[in-house]
Amino acid sequence: AQQKKMQQLLGPLQLSHTDLQRVQALMMQEMERGLDKERNAESSLRMLPTYVCHTPDGTERGEFLALDLGGTNFRVLAVNVSQENIDMSSKIYAIPTAIMQGTGELFDHIMDCIIDFQHEKQMRGQALPLGFTFSFPCQQLGLDKAVLLNWTKGFNASDCEGRDVVQLLRDAAQRKRVGKALKVVAVVNDTVGTMMACGYHDPKCEIGLIVGTGTNTCYMEEMAKVGTVEGDQGRMCINMEWGAFGDNGCIDSYFTNFDRQVDEKTINVGKQRFEKLISGMYLGEIVRHILLALVEEEVLLRGKSSQKLKNRNLLQTKFLSTIEAPGLSLLQVQAILRDLDLDANYEDSVLVREVCQIVSRRAAHLCAAGMAAVVEKMRESRGLEQFTVTVGVDGTLYKMHPYFSQNLHKMLKDLAPRCNVTFMQSEDGSGKGAALVAAVHSRQSNQSS
Ligand code: BG6
Ligand code: GLC
Repeated sequence: AQQKKMQQLLGPLQLSHTDLQRVQALMMQEMERGLDKERNAESSLRMLPTYVCHTPDGTERGEFLALDLGGTNFRVLAVNVSQENIDMSSKIYAIPTAIMQGTGELFDHIMDCIIDFQHEKQMRGQALPLGFTFSFPCQQLGLDKAVLLNWTKGFNASDCEGRDVVQLLRDAAQRKRVGKALKVVAVVNDTVGTMMACGYHDPKCEIGLIVGTGTNTCYMEEMAKVGTVEGDQGRMCINMEWGAFGDNGCIDSYFTNFDRQVDEKTINVGKQRFEKLISGMYLGEIVRHILLALVEEEVLLRGKSSQKLKNRNLLQTKFLSTIEAPGLSLLQVQAILRDLDLDANYEDSVLVREVCQIVSRRAAHLCAAGMAAVVEKMRESRGLEQFTVTVGVDGTLYKMHPYFSQNLHKMLKDLAPRCNVTFMQSEDGSGKGAALVAAVHSRQSNQSS
């Protein structure tokens, strides 16, 4: 009976190969619709044009400021791109939740951080070109004009949606009387910054993937296939905003009750449905809900929960990474659970580890299904039999979890056998990529002036 209850609860979280192929096909269909001017509104994928048309070619040069907002850390960076190498120095600043979700102080806070950084690095008075990694969905009207469509992840600052974030930054600079010192030349999504940063080292890098607090992908698409932008020549990087895949209901059948419970308590209910199955911000919460259900059914902990386990967001993604770590003994698992006031025995520890594995494996496999659609789409767009490509990737879940990357790579191979995909971890963040985009732009505007 125990076994049956467990199967009932955990079965829906285990996706078969056929399920994943179906997700891949749906992702492909939504990509095509998103790129089609007439059908864009039907798609849950926005497929946003980025106005980035080239990956780096190694001739970029100059000194830049960069901002990196939207991941775990907010950073201000100084980036020096020379013939020999790229030098960077950066500082992490906190963004308190009250500002993230507050009324209007966000861009003033960002400006304060820039001013502090310039002061510290003795860069005051220098108006360096600035590349801004802004990791949220934006309708770009040009490289330096990006209208925030909606906040995602934990952000919800008022009066920003529907507005150009560069203008918001410039207004804040005016208020701080440093308007002249601010020269924003490019806004990029973190996927794009990551692709560019890795593209500097590997010209085959034409995809950017983030699996961190949120998840998303960008890739180089043939202009001829981008119905939403004029022109047929060359390529343009498309920010898919794949975290929103399924917001139109197309993958509803794969959501479990646990996923619905997690979604209901977020600040953006019904939104970013794919992201909520995959990314670091949500996996711990999914696990917590499963554990509560297993206790309720008396399959776990002899039916005895703890007050702690009832706290929302108790389990961070690090919990999964730790519990699944190879070499961690079940006694250690038991100790971690005891810290949560859970009186776990040997069997309980085995089951908790299994739950973590099921949740992180599902996330990796869904990510593989999405990526399989992307590489297959690129192969088709380019009319190739076989396709070789590199994916630049960043994000704490991808980097820190002991099995996520392996599970993703393996499943991707199965789902896209005609594509030869290499993953390259971005080592120094997407700010470097934002600076490179600014550099390409500076070079081009110097050439044309
Ligand atoms: C960082 C990038 O390394 O990774 C950011 O510089 C990106 O731009 C982030 O948003 C994603 O990972 P996480 O785990 O911090 O959300
Ligand atoms: C969210 C954002 C997206 C970003 C991703 C990873 O999905 O909407 O723009 O790329 O998180 O940080």
